[in-house]
Amino acid sequence: MEAAATAPSKGIFDSANLQQRERIVALLQQAYWMEIETVMSYLAASVNLDGVRAQEIKESLSDEIEEELGHAKQFAERIKELYGVVPGSQQFAAAQGFLQPPEEQTDIVHVIRGVIHAETGAIEHYTKIVEETDGIDPVTQDMTIAILRDEQGHRRLFEGFLREYEFEGLA
Ligand SMILES: [Fe+2]
Ligand SMILES: [Fe+2]
Repeated sequence: MEAAATAPSKGIFDSANLQQRERIVALLQQAYWMEIETVMSYLAASVNLDGVRAQEIKESLSDEIEEELGHAKQFAERIKELYGVVPGSQQFAAAQGFLQPPEEQTDIVHVIRGVIHAETGAIEHYTKIVEETDGIDPVTQDMTIAILRDEQGHRRLFEGFLREYEFEGLA
């Protein structure tokens, strides 16, 4: 039998797929920063908000901080596995202008809308990663699909909060 002309495929680790691997690492680095900034924004909001009605929102945000940090860790691990480097803090550029503390710390609707905005951005970016990894990096794709589901759940929860405020004429 003749020896195979080419080495067996190593998928995303094939040297022929170097460019795609680098592109996926760049997308993962952006995802990592999105998670880190979300941790910052949710942590601030979970402490800053005032008022009887704020308690439920603050508790939900507290739970989500842990989940978002877990996502950041997963993205970091995957960057490493793909021979990338987890970026240092000086490369961070803030993008969540919509999640800065409101003028009044009882302005819960501002925070709810900000969370929906952040989750929507994550959903869009992770959907792009799922598309970019399709057929080339099933491991990154699988991981990102699971994270995407978490973000969809977060957005759905806060959409429910917003609906309640809208129904009561408070939003
Ligand atoms: Fe997340
Ligand atoms: Fe989220």
